[in-house]
Amino acid sequence: MSAQNHRRILVTSALPYANGPLHLGHLLEHIQTDIWVRYQRSRGHECHYVCADDTHGTAIMLKAEQQQQSPKQLIDAVKLEHSNDFNDFLISHDNYYSTHSEENRYFSEQIYLKLQEKNLIAERSITQAFDPEKKLFLADRYIKGHCPKCKAADQYGDNCEVCGATYAATDLIDPFSTISGAQPIDKQSVHYFFKLPEFKDFLAQWLNNEKLQPAVANKLREWLIAGLQEWDISRDAPYFGFEIPNAPNKFFYVWLDAPIGYMASFKNYCQRSELNFDEFWDKHQAEKADTELFHFIGKDIINFHGLFWPAMLDACQLRLPSAIYAHGFLMVNGEKMSKSRGTFIMARSYLEHFKPEYLRYFFASKLSNGIDDIDLNLEDFVQKVNSDLVGKLVNIASRCAGFISKRFDNQLAKQLPSPELHEALLAESAAIAEAYEQREFAKAMRIIMSLADRINQYVDEQQPWVIAKQDGKDSELQGICSQAICGFAILIIYLKPVLPEVANNAEQFLNASLNWTDLNNSLCGKKINSFKPLLKRIETTQIEKMLLSNTEIKASVMTPKQQSIELASHPKEISFEEFAKIDLRVALITRAEHVEGADKLLKLTLDLGGQTKTVFSGIKSAYQPSDLEGKLTVMVANLRPRKMRFGISEGMVLAAGSDDNEIYLLEPGEGAQPGMPIK
Ligand code: MSP
Ligand code: ZN
Repeated sequence: MSAQNHRRILVTSALPYANGPLHLGHLLEHIQTDIWVRYQRSRGHECHYVCADDTHGTAIMLKAEQQQQSPKQLIDAVKLEHSNDFNDFLISHDNYYSTHSEENRYFSEQIYLKLQEKNLIAERSITQAFDPEKKLFLADRYIKGHCPKCKAADQYGDNCEVCGATYAATDLIDPFSTISGAQPIDKQSVHYFFKLPEFKDFLAQWLNNEKLQPAVANKLREWLIAGLQEWDISRDAPYFGFEIPNAPNKFFYVWLDAPIGYMASFKNYCQRSELNFDEFWDKHQAEKADTELFHFIGKDIINFHGLFWPAMLDACQLRLPSAIYAHGFLMVNGEKMSKSRGTFIMARSYLEHFKPEYLRYFFASKLSNGIDDIDLNLEDFVQKVNSDLVGKLVNIASRCAGFISKRFDNQLAKQLPSPELHEALLAESAAIAEAYEQREFAKAMRIIMSLADRINQYVDEQQPWVIAKQDGKDSELQGICSQAICGFAILIIYLKPVLPEVANNAEQFLNASLNWTDLNNSLCGKKINSFKPLLKRIETTQIEKMLLSNTEIKASVMTPKQQSIELASHPKEISFEEFAKIDLRVALITRAEHVEGADKLLKLTLDLGGQTKTVFSGIKSAYQPSDLEGKLTVMVANLRPRKMRFGISEGMVLAAGSDDNEIYLLEPGEGAQPGMPIK
């Protein structure tokens, strides 16, 4: 990849609400985003992926109250759950943050004040339903009553589920608050509105952006034609959110600060990573730095991302999204997910029964760049992952690896007997890359599986198990098996964005790194390791167990107290093998230097007993360079080198501490020598 092609990309997934656990619908979105992000990274691009919990609003306030905890306790507990779920699904967020953060408060206030300064905020009194007992204004979904048209009982404040009529909450007969049961009264209060209609021309132009999906552009166009309304961005106390500057007891509506949460999460990440925030968000700097911004979202929230958000950004001289990428909804067995049927599948229930990569692959095999709904047919799921991942992909390696290890001391042949086959596999790389780039993952998976078919067909024809029994055919046997294994390596490179853990294990097996940039590295003549099965078949009975446990899922969220008890008794464990992967070494700090332009970093030159490494470490606030030189410390020596703004960092030194002001570099006891491994 040439330097000019180096892209600098920031990607987001929509921020899940912090009022309940994640379900597989959320995972559809994060898996789609993560595959795209990992693909970009594997091409050598700079691709940052941030997200956060969306923590504000009435629903969260009421839920916390119900559980007799503060909203802050609730959102902290949920954030921990959400982060664990995403981690376990191998979602590679660079930062998973919260909209209830100081960064977000700051940006929300700044943006609001800017809009106000530009006379883009209107202020007027409106009448709304009010719960006189609970002393709370009621959104439509908190009011029920008899339908004004068909008189059906127990209908919500906006439409009737029996006759389909739509109406205003004030039209309901015998309305009641679903929170207290009291009869709502009408009450006036002052609200603040964002003057969206002023952005008519701007939006008309923005939706011509050719990167927008046609379905999305059409939707936006329809709204524009129907006429833009001013957008109510304030809510009255009590409300869990940010108070509006100079407007006591008025709060920002959750949807005002939610997308700003993308900026806040990135800002928080910048503080840790020395990235330049403005290069991604300031209109002029972003243009100059040629950075890109993509929001992955569900089709239900296109209006927020396609109308309000770009208008707000434009008004504040902030950069616009390069595109918003919307996806359809997840269905299970052809129907909307249903709690009573057990098909409202929580992320955690899935993880208790299956590895994440089965679902990652299944979603990939279904995803295109459109907004059609995606069906998770559970029988298909079992059949598809067994047949593709186990039957086709892993099978290639498991059929051939045994011969290489038993007969050839793990050594691959120096030459492939069928270079044409190998070339044919490589020849599809551009088509597969293009499909990933365009979010046509189903297409990419189809091509990759057709290549797996070709390799299997080759093995079927060559019959290594027959040749293995014949005398004097050693080199032929080694060639056939090597051919298959080199082909397998290519497939793994193609699949790495979808199957990161399988790919890591395959890298161990093949003793090679398997990134897109490694496609042309030949494995011929190399020594590999013994093969361990990479994925097992799954059984239909596991599906039944999952659905069952899913209907029994405990009260959606634990209290913080329960959480901390649970955490203390089951800290997130790793296996000894995982721990043993970390190569900790004693390092001598031979040089420590300030880094021009970096607030937190020192550049350390470390001697590992002969080998020298450069590490950028965020310990500037605690140490003078001169105090460090000559000191021994402990470093992670096998951390993959990371490109930072100031150079390449080749590891990490270990320090204790909870924030920037308290940093204590670890030092080994006396007598330790540079390069000694830590055991
Ligand atoms: N908090 C807002 C988003 C704010 S973004 C600045 C929200 N939260 S949500 O939890 O309801 O949804 C988060 C994302 O998950 C949205 O993009 C939504 O479309 C997606 N999905 C929620 N249910 C879904 C399915 N059943 N299927 C696919 N995606 C779905 O909206
Ligand atoms: Zn009705």
